[in-house]
Amino acid sequence: MILVTGGTGYIGSHTVVELLNNGYDVVIVDNLSNSKEMVVDRIEAITKRRPIFINGDIRDREILDEIFTNFDISCVINFAGLKAVGESVIKPLEYYQNNITGAVTLLEAMRDHKVYNFIFSSSATVYGDPVSVPVDETFKIGGTTNPYGTTKLFIEQILQDLYKAEPKFNIAILRYFNPIGAHPSGLIGEDPNGIPNNLAPYITQVMIGKRDHLNIFGKDYDTEDGTCIRDYIHVCDLAYGHVLAIKKLMENPGVVIYNLGTGKGSSVLDVLHAFEKAYGKEIKHEFVGRREGDITANYTKVDKAFKELGFKAKYNIDDMARDQWNWQKKNPNGYEE
Ligand code: NAD
Ligand code: WQD
Repeated sequence: MILVTGGTGYIGSHTVVELLNNGYDVVIVDNLSNSKEMVVDRIEAITKRRPIFINGDIRDREILDEIFTNFDISCVINFAGLKAVGESVIKPLEYYQNNITGAVTLLEAMRDHKVYNFIFSSSATVYGDPVSVPVDETFKIGGTTNPYGTTKLFIEQILQDLYKAEPKFNIAILRYFNPIGAHPSGLIGEDPNGIPNNLAPYITQVMIGKRDHLNIFGKDYDTEDGTCIRDYIHVCDLAYGHVLAIKKLMENPGVVIYNLGTGKGSSVLDVLHAFEKAYGKEIKHEFVGRREGDITANYTKVDKAFKELGFKAKYNIDDMARDQWNWQKKNPNGYEE
């Protein structure tokens, strides 16, 4: 049985679908601070299998003890955490408390219950502003520019320290690039609260008529079209990467680190055009000044994840745009009734 923390969230829910479809049994623990319990029904509608859902916080040791006592957990995937970059600058203590205390409490419970396989949702943000692109897993990490990113960096360090002290642990650190898109069924997807911070959900809210136009942050970057380059990856590809990571952990590899992306850099305008293709018409946009903290370009080499996990992204940005638009169209207000 796999314990998925944050399993009703965006990446977690897609990963639970992949796990169930690949024959794993799943227990979700989520405090619903950024998701809805309805996601569990949607997962069941897609997979015809229902994961066990526990409404709880990973900082609550009693709940964790109950879970590890009642279920035979072979691996934990830790998605639970706060993830809004801007908010983390305003509320650093909440971010350190939730993300770091959460991870440490979970790892303590795992150690005490002798569960040693752990997958951690890290982020390309740990590379800061990379010296060159594409980045690979040997690039120096650090230089994060916000508390959210720093929680990822610190947790990676905690995991390295833990492994040194307790080599029974097997730990996969997965550094995600930019996950977008949604399950092709349109039943699950990203449902941000308030004004979206990220590009793709902002675009689909313009498409659905909730926002007037997209502001493109900067047109004078040193790139072909002047807008920033990122490595967008379909959330279903990313989700499948976790199935492969579980298989890897069964080989007792110790600590392993993988970048998960497509290896292809796309500009903001490339992404906009992919959504316009899905929409069949133009999407209103304006160029505005750069957003503080944005870096020019970040995309990954894919060799290590391919060689060691067999990971290869199947979907391109047109697929991502089509599926995210499909989700938005079918659920104009996200999971709100
Ligand atoms: P999300 O907010 O949709 O999912 C996180 C889930 O965790 C939510 O359902 C939330 O309710 C839950 N949660 C938060 N704190 C909790 C706690 N203390 N106890 C129990 N549940 C808690 O976010 P997501 O986009 O699915 O991201 C999942 C993970 O991947 C996060 O750790 C995030 O930092 C990481 N990540 C995300 C991205 C991205 O662009 N979305 C990129 C890199 C890494
Ligand atoms: C992508 C591009 C913007 C919105 C962030 C976090 C990172 C990771 C993923 C978790 C940039 C441009 C955006 C808009 C725009 N999360 N943009 N108008 O900044 O690469 O990464 O989310 O780990 O840590 O920092 O993603 O989607 O915010 O932006 O022009 O309204 O779109 O400037 O070039 P980013 P994003």
